Amino acid sequence: MITKAVALAAAFQGAFALPKNVPVNLKGKGNGKRDLPPAEVRAEAVVNAFRTAWEGYSKYAFPNDELKPVTNGFSNSRNQWGASAVDALSTALVMGQKDIVNQIIDYIPTIDYFSTPSSVSLFETTIRYLGGMLSGYDFLNGPLADLADNKTNVEQLLEQSKNLANALSYAFDTPSGVPYNNLDFSDRSTDGSNNGLATVGTLILEWVRLADLTGNETYAKLTEKAESYLLAPKPATSEPWPGLLGMSISPTTGEFQDARGGWIGGADSFYEYLIKMYVYDPSRYATYKDRWILAVDSTITHLTSHPKSRPDLTFVAMYTNQTLQLVSQHLACFDGGNFILGGQVLDKQEYIDYGLELVNGCHETYIATATGIGPEIFAWDDTKVPSAQAAFYNSSGFYITNSAYQLRPEVIESFYYAYRATGDVKYQEWAWDAFLAINATTRVGSGFSSIEDVDVVGGGAFTDFQESFWFAEVLKYSFLIHAPEAEWQVGRDGVNKWVFNTEAHPFKVFEDGYA
Ligand SMILES: *[C@@H]1O[C@H](CO)[C@@H](O)[C@H](O)[C@H]1NC(C)=O
Ligand SMILES: *[C@@H]1O[C@H](CO)[C@@H](O)[C@H](O)[C@H]1NC(C)=O
Ligand SMILES: *[C@@H]1O[C@H](CO)[C@@H](O)[C@H](O)[C@H]1NC(C)=O
Ligand SMILES: *[C@@H]1O[C@H](CO)[C@@H](O)[C@H](O)[C@H]1NC(C)=O
Ligand SMILES: *[C@@H]1O[C@H](CO)[C@@H](O)[C@H](O)[C@H]1NC(C)=O
Repeated sequence: MITKAVALAAAFQGAFALPKNVPVNLKGKGNGKRDLPPAEVRAEAVVNAFRTAWEGYSKYAFPNDELKPVTNGFSNSRNQWGASAVDALSTALVMGQKDIVNQIIDYIPTIDYFSTPSSVSLFETTIRYLGGMLSGYDFLNGPLADLADNKTNVEQLLEQSKNLANALSYAFDTPSGVPYNNLDFSDRSTDGSNNGLATVGTLILEWVRLADLTGNETYAKLTEKAESYLLAPKPATSEPWPGLLGMSISPTTGEFQDARGGWIGGADSFYEYLIKMYVYDPSRYATYKDRWILAVDSTITHLTSHPKSRPDLTFVAMYTNQTLQLVSQHLACFDGGNFILGGQVLDKQEYIDYGLELVNGCHETYIATATGIGPEIFAWDDTKVPSAQAAFYNSSGFYITNSAYQLRPEVIESFYYAYRATGDVKYQEWAWDAFLAINATTRVGSGFSSIEDVDVVGGGAFTDFQESFWFAEVLKYSFLIHAPEAEWQVGRDGVNKWVFNTEAHPFKVFEDGYA
């Protein structure tokens, strides 16, 4: 495959550029289990998986949203705008896959974002489509400009971002300014239901980036207004500990409806973005950083939990008011990486150390199962262990309450932050093992499929669905942890030129004078 060989040769040209002081592939480092293949071989294996998944999608599904790899069909769970293509763009860019980059940017100008046959999620559309296009624009207008054959297509990434945001913006037209999430474009209506903490609190990075790139301040103002209710939550009972909030918010009043939460799906990326906004622009978003510190300090003090059968492990519990539930999720495993990022940026070693403990706990959920992949949901409540999992709980420190794996990235994402912060090759080993396990179990037909049971060799059954975030996230983090130093890699010293949105699309951080 000529394109791939050329791109890889370019990516690894000359001496293999390494982070300062980071030993690579040293015998006896990390777990000392074995020698890994060289970093460039590992990175190339991930690129091969990306090309396999892309070729399957391109042949059988493009420009629909997702590939059904077992039956060589397609699905449209994301409004039929080509979710996998837009989500794959920034990964194709960092991997230097020029042919795929140009296939995607030739396509994006043809999308009609004002029209769709299905209900639109403001949140999902923002993180995947808006995030993917803005990241592509930042790269192709910046350090990876050489990868675009047609400069008009690059300008179109920003034009289409404006079109999409303009199509979505009526969602914010509510009495409080907290948007509705579920939109019907055919008559510009909403479903009128309460919104969630993550779905309200994970818009601001994308919409502020768009405002800064276009000079249209409305995009920033809409999301800052919505976020204002999350930074000063009401009623007081919805904040059981300082910084830790409920999850359901009324767009009518802007008030919280509950006091249930954690670092779990539905809440997760609200906390993630508090510190990422500070990374993006510390002068405008210092308050967000202060709220992140409150949440993190409360988490360490009140949510830290060690399974009775494995007191060496650290997990973060969920809560309802001040009552803990000893349950967590694959989705929550981004938390270790987020603590590490914040610890580095704020120069707080205690947050980095705590984050590394969380990374270790999530790694344990991978190595305990028959496939080497962690489950969707797990728990460690000593009084509720299912008898069939008693021995498993005894040795691993958790039991499985939902055994699926949906091609999620969070565990490998946190390995990536741990590696960038520490330079410890143990985290490259863990990421490589996870990638090999995922490749061995989910690779099927024309791509990769979600599976039903991580604790059965072979994964139980394929659900015949290749998520768009497989391209955006799993393959990007799996690649970057072995890839050469580059300005978009997470800073090793707390200084970041780029910040990753929750879908792993990197944006250039704000610099005064030019966006
Ligand atoms: C470049 O892309 C634009 C759409 O963005 C298209 O109209 C134009 O034909 C393309 N030019 C070439 C030479 O392909
Ligand atoms: C700025 O964005 C808002 C929100 O989508 C939109 O209504 C308005 O037309 C935009 N302004 C300009 C000058 O494009
Ligand atoms: C949580 O606290 C609120 C307000 O104090 C109360 O109304 C609610 O019943 C509590 N919920 C639970 C499950 O304890
Ligand atoms: C689990 O460990 C406890 C305490 O060590 C022991 O009593 C019990 O028999 C073990 N259960 C299983 C199924 O291994
Ligand atoms: C990934 O899986 C495919 C198909 O099973 C296999 O051919 C390939 O060698 C695997 N890649 C790695 C790096 O093990």
